[in-house]
Amino acid sequence: MNVNLTHIISILKASHQIDLSVYDSEFLSSTVNNRITQTGTASADDYYKLLEHTITEPNQLFDSLHISYSEFFRNSLTYAALEHIIFPAMISKLKNNGRREIRIWSTACANGQEAYSLAMLLEELKNGNKNKFKYRIFATDRSKNNIETARNGQYTTDLLKNIQLNRLNKWFTNYNESYRINAGLKVNIDFSEFDLLDDGAITPESSIYGDFDLVYCANLLFYYTNEVKQKILKKVSHCLSKGGYLVTGETEREILIKQNYIETVYQSAIFQMNTA
Ligand SMILES: C[S@@+](CC[C@H](N)C(=O)[O-])C[C@H]1O[C@@H](n2cnc3c(N)ncnc32)[C@H](O)[C@@H]1O
Repeated sequence: MNVNLTHIISILKASHQIDLSVYDSEFLSSTVNNRITQTGTASADDYYKLLEHTITEPNQLFDSLHISYSEFFRNSLTYAALEHIIFPAMISKLKNNGRREIRIWSTACANGQEAYSLAMLLEELKNGNKNKFKYRIFATDRSKNNIETARNGQYTTDLLKNIQLNRLNKWFTNYNESYRINAGLKVNIDFSEFDLLDDGAITPESSIYGDFDLVYCANLLFYYTNEVKQKILKKVSHCLSKGGYLVTGETEREILIKQNYIETVYQSAIFQMNTA
């Protein structure tokens, strides 16, 4: 049998009942090729046999399609722009535009690193800022396990590589060879499950009406076909407030640059709704 991607995918469809038609074909094929390399199988035919005859490999392949890798302060340019330009401007405008709080949605928060990084920046900006402000971060992911890990907020040291020592001391407590996020940093973050592909769900339930100043939608668009990417972008951009910001991953900039309703800010992975 001359095995191709369709054969391999059909095994996964049968074992896990997932709709693989939403996934980008390049992403699917590179995921399968990585598994072929990692399992040391000599060819696609041999890998197909491994999938057919073991229980573990279909599970491994399924897990590889659902990467939850994340980092604190992933993409330093984005966080520098948020810390020094975008958040300070939002804070000083807050009074004038009659908004009560800064509202952020971290749409695919994985194990919470993105939401906690944003909270650290905002907490630090609170100190010494003459403009007092409130903020709320709605952090969601489609994976229940990810949300539980995020709520728990405990990380082994290898996951803390971008955290400066002063932040580590201020926001974490050392606990059994790992570090726990301090309760004070969790107060303004609301973690919940949310699937961006669910047509019945528009914004996280706890946010009630959306109206976000910033939506973080990073490092998940690459999973999906163009049609699905557009569907996600439409959903997240519709719940931005006037002049609100959309942040993607560095490698996803190109996808957004092509959209005429949104403009890149500082040549970064930060975009602003076109108000013209
Ligand atoms: C590679 S991680 C990126 C995490 C984080 N945004 C970052 O940039 O570091 C991708 C995350 O997207 C989540 N995800 C994928 N598809 C999703 C969907 N349709 N709705 C919500 N979350 C999704 C996955 O569960 C995973 O946690």
